Amino acid sequence: MSDSLNITDNRSDEPAELEITDGTIRATDLLALRDPKSGGVLRSYDPAFMNTASCRSAVTFLDGEAGVLQYRGYPIEQLAESSTYLEVAYLLIHGNLPTDAELTKWTHEVTTHTFVHENLKSFMQGFRYDAHPMGMLLASVGALSTFYPDAKEIRDEQIRNSHVVRLISKMPTLAAFAYRHSRGMPYVYPDNDLSYAGNFLSMIYKIAELKYQPDPRLERALDILFILHADHEQNCSTTAVRTVGSSQVDPYSAIAAGVAALYGPLHGGANEAVLRMLRRIGSRDRVPEFIEGVKSGDERLMGFGHRVYKNFDPRATIIKKACDDVFEVTGVSPLLEIAVELEKTALEDEYFVSRKLYPNVDFYSGLIYEALGMPVEMFPVLFAIPRTSGWIAQWLEMVDDPEQKIARPRQIYIGERDLDYVPASQRKD
Ligand code: CMC
Repeated sequence: MSDSLNITDNRSDEPAELEITDGTIRATDLLALRDPKSGGVLRSYDPAFMNTASCRSAVTFLDGEAGVLQYRGYPIEQLAESSTYLEVAYLLIHGNLPTDAELTKWTHEVTTHTFVHENLKSFMQGFRYDAHPMGMLLASVGALSTFYPDAKEIRDEQIRNSHVVRLISKMPTLAAFAYRHSRGMPYVYPDNDLSYAGNFLSMIYKIAELKYQPDPRLERALDILFILHADHEQNCSTTAVRTVGSSQVDPYSAIAAGVAALYGPLHGGANEAVLRMLRRIGSRDRVPEFIEGVKSGDERLMGFGHRVYKNFDPRATIIKKACDDVFEVTGVSPLLEIAVELEKTALEDEYFVSRKLYPNVDFYSGLIYEALGMPVEMFPVLFAIPRTSGWIAQWLEMVDDPEQKIARPRQIYIGERDLDYVPASQRKD
């Protein structure tokens, strides 16, 4: 049996044999089939990319049915257990786990690029007191491109690598400045003696003490959350980074596009929506009433469901465990009780079971962030920090892929045609 697909275009009785490679046909092979009347070529229609592969990628493997997530072939469970975020970032970007010497060099490079230009600080200070930190992050990452004009030299590997390091290094600084701004607090400069997660906690929480020492359990929990959020193959924000990056713009602008996509409530904003939902439900006994509202279509159970995972989200399992570690330090949140009840009720309900709706990574991550003292507006920001390594890995892969061109989908035009312009004074209501 050959790996091909025989089809007949019944409009013309034209047969065609399409090659199947890696379980896919090429949409451009359909171009050979033409409408005998109009001569128009045959296209595939796939709004929201429900069944379209847009690239070949070796970064992240995901099997939604089996609940498998692997970065560069390494299971997420092992990385969450034994690795650190910076090591995982190296893995995603370079394709292999670093040796001791490579990790030391990488950690040194990232740690010594955490400061941002003072003008960027003034830029951030220009935001209103109540600016959403994700909007500030989006704007300030984009603004970084103006500080590094050579970043547009995307074919120069040395220059490119220097900006890869800068992006990983400066993201927590921008995120923390955005947080401090929204609290009306002075910005805290990076502390290069601390770990990646520890330094971020210092820039968030440090007040008058000479040296901030993060609780190692909270530092580790945050690092695990960073590992879990580092990449997730061709999701909405990664597709945004690749699409914008395909115009060969500099990486800061492409990553800003990723931050923008992550800002939306169906993507990075979901954990913020989960917390708001839990607060609105208010108590355990109101869970059944809320679930009924979801089933009748008035509500959505935020933190449930996934385009790809249809059995369980492996990240949700790890996060639930991290929850316990964090609550050991901070004390249990009353919202956890509501979340546990919601999960239990939904998992036993036919509506959710038949639609294969399970808790996703965001169902519990918001509770951890809240326990860490983060306001909900910071949740998507906390997602964007680690996802930067995934975006960069995917961007680098795209830039070096000879098959990639500027992204430019087709459309099915359904509007009017050939109308005659009428001056405004002669138009009818
Ligand atoms: N609550 C209630 N019903 C839902 C939910 C939900 N959270 N998610 C999906 N459904 C229903 C939906 O109404 C539809 O029902 P029907 O067949 O009767 O019309 C069916 O399940 C299929 O849903 P869909 O909207 O076609 O699924 P999708 O693949 O387009 O959407 C999703 C995936 C994640 C956007 C969606 O499940 C959702 O909105 N979930 C809540 C938001 C959320 O938690 N997002 C975070 C995703 S994980 C983070 C990440 O990886 O980026």
